[in-house]
Amino acid sequence: MKQIKKTLAEELSETLEAEVDVDDIELPEPEHGDFAYPAMKAASEKEVNPRQLAEEAAEALEELGFVRKVDVAGPGYLNFFLDKKYYAEEIEQIIESEKMGVEEREGKVLVEFSSPNLAKPMHIGHLRNNVLGDSIQRIMRFLGYDVTSENYIGDWGTKHGQTIYAYKLWGSEEEFEKNPMEHMYSLYVKLNQEADEETQEKAREWSKKIEEGHDEAFSIWEKFREATIEYNEKEYERMGIKFDRWTGESVVAERADEIIEEGLEKSIFKKDDDGSVYVEFDDLPSTVVKRSDGSTLYISRDIANIEKREKEGFDQNLYIVASEQDLHFQQLFETAEMFGFNEMQNEHISYGMLHLEEGSMSSSKGNIIELSEVMDKAEEEAEKRIEDKDIDNAEKVGLGAIKYANLSVSRQKDIEFDWDSVLSFEGDSGPYLQYSNVRAKSILKQTEKEGELLGEIHQGEYRLLKKLAEFPSKVEAAGDQRDPAKIANYLSTLSEEFNSFYHDCPVLGEDEKTTKRRLRVVELFVDVTDQGLNLMGIEPLDEM
Ligand code: ARG
Repeated sequence: MKQIKKTLAEELSETLEAEVDVDDIELPEPEHGDFAYPAMKAASEKEVNPRQLAEEAAEALEELGFVRKVDVAGPGYLNFFLDKKYYAEEIEQIIESEKMGVEEREGKVLVEFSSPNLAKPMHIGHLRNNVLGDSIQRIMRFLGYDVTSENYIGDWGTKHGQTIYAYKLWGSEEEFEKNPMEHMYSLYVKLNQEADEETQEKAREWSKKIEEGHDEAFSIWEKFREATIEYNEKEYERMGIKFDRWTGESVVAERADEIIEEGLEKSIFKKDDDGSVYVEFDDLPSTVVKRSDGSTLYISRDIANIEKREKEGFDQNLYIVASEQDLHFQQLFETAEMFGFNEMQNEHISYGMLHLEEGSMSSSKGNIIELSEVMDKAEEEAEKRIEDKDIDNAEKVGLGAIKYANLSVSRQKDIEFDWDSVLSFEGDSGPYLQYSNVRAKSILKQTEKEGELLGEIHQGEYRLLKKLAEFPSKVEAAGDQRDPAKIANYLSTLSEEFNSFYHDCPVLGEDEKTTKRRLRVVELFVDVTDQGLNLMGIEPLDEM
């Protein structure tokens, strides 16, 4: 499609003697044409009548072998109709090519996402993060980037002293063995419920002990860290998510201490009367990087981490983190610049909140909604709606449903989760996409024949083919804008188009040419939707 746009743009530049860019070529409503070009701007630059200019251009362009017809519409729109067979074959070739027509990208990209904290179960906030981050890593890989996905766990800092001190007070080895996450988290909740000043003070002492490498503190911390990773690994496995590496704040903690000193020497940081260290900005509120008691902060470790990633040779450093941390990342990136870490492009991929219907779920402890509860619920609801009650399938449909619901809304927007629409088999939902894909596969299964673009292309086939041709540009847009919604929404309209095709164009039992031609269109639809679903981390199914 891009090649055709390019040819059209070049031809237009020549005939109109004006600058026409590929992006000036538009996609009109299908009944108006295959491509369109508004000649108004070029005409006003040349100070001629746009309609007349368009008419001249139309004549010249009809000479091109693959243009069937050019209409001039409105004040000076050129609408091109291509030779259908020519265009259909072009589309087939693009989709069948290895990268399905996407322009390959280069560069080493770090995609950091999820990054949950130590000793706490992941909650609903991690749901959107995990789904978004995973889809972004998949899209970036498909675009050809050399991607490393990283889970940077929150395993350092004062909070952790609390859980460890609570474990000293009330912990039980036995309980921990039975269900480590439940035990760690309940200790944390208990400590915070009962925390008087004295307890908090003690907890802070334990944080210091971990930082100082005190034997007992450190070994409890290590045990908690391992248990957290083990617990989360199961959750990711259930979600079909993989990381290339696990790191954590503890990995850069030591370097963060040194960086504070360097920052003071370089006068990037300032010391306050109470001994704390802070950084000031021109356009942002200042922030503390080291407390008066000597402990470092979240942001200091992030600065050290930027240095680390830059040394590792990454070209892009992407953070998938909720919009609550917008300010943190602005301050972080500005500070990194002050240190001269500017080889790598840093970017905060911020996203909105996810809300559940009121009262649709209750959390057993603490007041968070755990990620696993949301997944259980999705499965349960999917099971109710799936006819054959195949548990394995219900899991995949439920998961597909919540993934789609998280990805189909542009990431900056908040999401209101409503189970009925999330799990609907019609309209804008994950199950609808999975179902359309399965429906197409089931046509192919009913015959031994293979598809081939024979005979005249029927209008219904042509519409679907043209929609399929948009795939590469949607993937590129999703990657560049770091927004999988571009793909999700595209797949939704594509599936609608497929369902009209399915309705208008019977495939099996037609004359040989028609059947083969339509089979080919269905095959291409399966290829695009299989790949598109994969890019969202949604597993395409064989039956449903
Ligand atoms: N652990 C943090 C949290 O749960 C998120 C970490 C985000 N990544 C980062 N490099 N700061 O809020």
